[in-house]
Amino acid sequence: MAIVFSGIQPSGMLTLGNYVGAIRQFVSYQEKHQCYFCIVNQHAITVPQNSEELRKNSRSLAAIYLAAGLDPEKVVLFIQSEVPAHVQLGWILQTLSYVGELERMTQYKDKSRSQGSSIPAGLLTYPPLMAADILLYHTDIVPVGIDQKQHIELTRDLAERFNNRYAPVFTIPEIQLPKVGAKILSLQDPSKKMSKSDPNRLGTISLLDPPKEIEKKIKRATTDSDTRIYYDPVNKPGISNLLTIYSALTHKTIDEIEKEYQGKGYGHLKVDLADIIVQALSPLQEKYYHLIESSTLDNILDRGAEKANQVATKTLSAVEHAIGLSRK
Ligand code: AMP
Ligand code: TRP
Repeated sequence: MAIVFSGIQPSGMLTLGNYVGAIRQFVSYQEKHQCYFCIVNQHAITVPQNSEELRKNSRSLAAIYLAAGLDPEKVVLFIQSEVPAHVQLGWILQTLSYVGELERMTQYKDKSRSQGSSIPAGLLTYPPLMAADILLYHTDIVPVGIDQKQHIELTRDLAERFNNRYAPVFTIPEIQLPKVGAKILSLQDPSKKMSKSDPNRLGTISLLDPPKEIEKKIKRATTDSDTRIYYDPVNKPGISNLLTIYSALTHKTIDEIEKEYQGKGYGHLKVDLADIIVQALSPLQEKYYHLIESSTLDNILDRGAEKANQVATKTLSAVEHAIGLSRK
């Protein structure tokens, strides 16, 4: 059985971008793959977090994973900081990373820009920790959005570097992007990705937005002065983004959607799309509010950490042995 690993930062309520780019893909793997899904709280603290918020967001993310359809009997769901091997291997992989290659990561460049002159070192060393997350489980497939492509390439390089220098311990993982929706854009500024941390709330649909809020945000989404509905991400990025979301949530092709809306206006498309999003999110929201109150969440996370620790500790021992860090 192929092994799947992915992680999401508990840095705020997830967006429709996270849903289409990541979570929805996760659910499709659980029947036929050994899956590990992680709440990467140690990645979240690479930028300042409020402790109460972080605790709340971690729990909330666990509930979202389950509400989206992950079955805790089939997947291992756990919190990164409850499996110490992640930072232990993360350190080892830092020693194999070059400062130059870490400085070339676009996520580092983007995030460090907003930190002024006090850039936390953890922002730079974030990718070797992410590589550790993936490599500890002998992962074959990493389902993510396109913004993570560079990090996965670095993970592959670090795994090969380790295997060549010490011993062939690591599996080289493959990235898996969704067919449609690898980068959902902001509804207000389609030159940027839709992001949890966007201060302009109108640009982002949160997975817990009530129907009225979704309708409002889609209605106000940036379009253009043309009236025809067709896919052209360069000249019509706003409408193209709406078509992408439509296609991702209905599984209709962009061609089919364009035909359906021939001769119709933007308003028509927006009303239908808002409805499609509400329909997609309402079962998830219902389950979420039920789960967040229940103690089963803690039991699931306890069991997840236990299973993850078993596998991760073994890999870490093999790594330490290969390097000469263990006495035997
Ligand atoms: P993050 O919110 O950065 O922890 O991202 C968690 C996952 O969601 C990663 O796999 C990202 O690639 C994916 N993701 C985040 N934002 C988007 C977006 N706007 N469109 C598609 N995928 C996204
Ligand atoms: N860096 C990812 C993001 O910002 C989150 C992440 C951390 C991750 N570790 C991972 C994703 C391992 C996939 C696999 O979205």
